[in-house]
This record gives sequence, structure tokens and C-alpha cells, in this order.
Amino acid sequence: PNAKQAEPSKYPKSKQEANRILDILSENLMFKHLDPGSTERVMEAMFNVRKEPGDCIIKEGEEGDNFYVIDEGTIDVYIKKEGKEIKVKSMGVGESFGELALMYSTPRTATCKAATSLRLWALDRISFKLILMQTTTSRRKQY
Ligand code: CMP
Repeated sequence: PNAKQAEPSKYPKSKQEANRILDILSENLMFKHLDPGSTERVMEAMFNVRKEPGDCIIKEGEEGDNFYVIDEGTIDVYIKKEGKEIKVKSMGVGESFGELALMYSTPRTATCKAATSLRLWALDRISFKLILMQTTTSRRKQY
């Protein structure tokens, strides 16, 4: 990650992609209460990631890079217990994962693998923090 990055990333998108992301964000628990400006910045900063069944997207214990929302497909979440990977959850379209390591600066708390072909939208750690911090600041200014 670039320590000097001071602005959220901006990746060009078609109108269709932009609307698809905004649709997903408006239904997502983490984003549905964000102000419209911040939601727009999240959409602009997201980039497309594709995975095939069995691919590992996040590995438990590693450093966090990106946060993800699912556009197409399903993932399985595994947690290691006594040396064995136990499946704790599956997630589908519109659901998001990978926020914990970014929010709390901890190692990844679980392994996330593609259960099907996947189309994801990713948000890098710095953009994630910048946008959420800006939101908190602007909300504080309202009071
Ligand atoms: P993070 O720790 O960054 O990376 C792994 C992700 O898996 C984590 O963020 C959550 O989004 C998700 N996750 C972790 N534990 C669970 C769980 N018990 N059930 C569902 N999802 C989880």
C-alpha cells in the first residue's frame, strides 16, 4: 500500500457498472446508511475482481489488503479450529466481507474461498479508511 495516498482511488466505470454497484451498496448493511457523497466515492474507488471455484480470496492470519462485495457468485468462510478449517458461513450476491482486518488493523480472522465463479468489487484499505474517516468527520461537523 502507498503510505502517501491521500485521496480515495478512482477507477473509471461504465454507467451500467456504476449503477450496479450503487444498487448493491444501497442494500448492504455496511453502506445503506452512508451519505450519498460517500457512497459515490466508495463506488468510484471500487475495482473488479474475478475468481474461479476454489480460489482463495482471503487467508486467515494474513495482513488485510482489500474489502469486497459480491456482484455474482458465492463464497465460503472458514475458520481454523484445532488445525482444521471449519466452514462457518456462505455468502452470496450483495453480501460483503474482509472489513474486520481493515477496520481494526488485525490479521484476517477467517479464510474466504470462491464456491462458484465470482465477480467481486474490491475497495483497497486506504480508500476504505479515507472514505469512512471523511464520513465521520463530516457527520461530526453537522452537530
Ligand atoms: P477479515 O477478518 O478482514 O477477513 C475475513 C472475513 O471473513 C472477515 O473480515 C469477515 O468479513 C468474515 N468473517 C470472519 N468471521 C466470520 C464469521 N464467523 N462468520 C461470517 N463471516 C466471518
